[in-house]
Amino acid sequence: MSGVVIIGAQWGDEGKGKIVDLYTERADTVVRFAGGPNAGHTLVVGGEKVVVRLTPSGILRPKAECVMAQGMVIDPAVLVGEIDMLEARGIKTTGRLWLSDRAHVILPFHVLVDGLREDRAARGAKIGTTKRGIGPAYEDKAGRRGLRTGDLRDFGRVENLVRGAIAAWEPTIVALGGEPPSVQSVLSHLEPLAARVVPMLADTSIKTDRALREGKNVLFEGAQGTLLDLDHGTYPYVTSSTAVAAGACVGSGIGPTRVGRVLGVTKGYATRVGEGPFPTELHDALGERIRNQGGEFGSVTGRPRRTGWLDIPGLRYASRVNGLDALAVTKLDVLSGLDEIKVCVAYDTPEGRTEELPVDAFANAKPVYEAVPGWPASIRSARTLADLPATTRTYLARIEALTGVPIDLISVGPDRDATIIVREVFG
Ligand code: IMP
Repeated sequence: MSGVVIIGAQWGDEGKGKIVDLYTERADTVVRFAGGPNAGHTLVVGGEKVVVRLTPSGILRPKAECVMAQGMVIDPAVLVGEIDMLEARGIKTTGRLWLSDRAHVILPFHVLVDGLREDRAARGAKIGTTKRGIGPAYEDKAGRRGLRTGDLRDFGRVENLVRGAIAAWEPTIVALGGEPPSVQSVLSHLEPLAARVVPMLADTSIKTDRALREGKNVLFEGAQGTLLDLDHGTYPYVTSSTAVAAGACVGSGIGPTRVGRVLGVTKGYATRVGEGPFPTELHDALGERIRNQGGEFGSVTGRPRRTGWLDIPGLRYASRVNGLDALAVTKLDVLSGLDEIKVCVAYDTPEGRTEELPVDAFANAKPVYEAVPGWPASIRSARTLADLPATTRTYLARIEALTGVPIDLISVGPDRDATIIVREVFG
């Protein structure tokens, strides 16, 4: 089976971009199936950093076809800006970057509402969103009044849909102290963007299915992470779309029998950006050190990420809800120089000790830690398992033993070659 799903096993920002980019060397097609410009997948090639928010991370490999499928929400202004940025770097997108004509469009008032809600919410009621209009756009989709990318072919239709959506949002915008936009201003915003977006439209379900039937290697690139998933995350501190492996099928229009393998990406520690529970969070100098060493600042918003120890019950949870075949462990180099590394192996709850993630009851759960020895020197030059210090290998073996999931790949630095591939993802 030639379909491989790469998914975030934590709260997003696991380093999926680098992993997808690496595997794209052997992939023919890379498909993004959920989320929108709330994602920021960072790729470092030859020391140069590129952040993509909507286009699949495969875009840097000239031979890969890239698909933005119908589970996504697309801000056309962000998409056009991203394409211009890529083309300016000499990366051709014409004829190899396709956008589903059934993806939903993020409109300026979605961004407005997202920002107003976050700014006006009382402390404790904030989600800590990226303010990119993601939630309101998915609300319109579920409310069956959304504008789809395919609608951009017909501006008469666009006008009707925009008029209806503005009428629906007007009371909310006014209640939040904002000013509803005019229909005309939204149409003027969309018109030049539509001219750029429409030539990219395709039935991407057909394209993806055909690639799979032809035995091509297809990578499905998840966005965000398991614990931000609308159904399986730490609700309500989640995103508004699916971030788990099954979403690859729903979001791209293929059946579950087409997916052969699921790889979960986790950092060697944990981070979270935005509000919501994070039981293994470090509030001390060590947390600060990991943040600085790991460059843990949001690639979309620049917000400092919260940092903490690896949560094994969380990874086991991710293994269950995604059906993980293997793990990729990223940013392991960031832990270099620590005398000791802690891992959360269980939780103490009022009902006793549990190895399950108390996903809806974190308030009354206390992490139980196990300490493993750290390693003193940099591991950035390691290219095989044998190059790693014995204590690093022990840490990895402990993760495998505690999660029951084998580690296929270890990343020891941001560049493509700072990687140890234990097992190839495409057989
Ligand atoms: P939204 O997706 O902008 O609505 O934000 C909802 C929550 O998901 C917030 O906690 C965000 O910080 C988080 N989030 C959304 N996208 C990402 C991502 O790509 N990486 C990490 N966190 C994200």
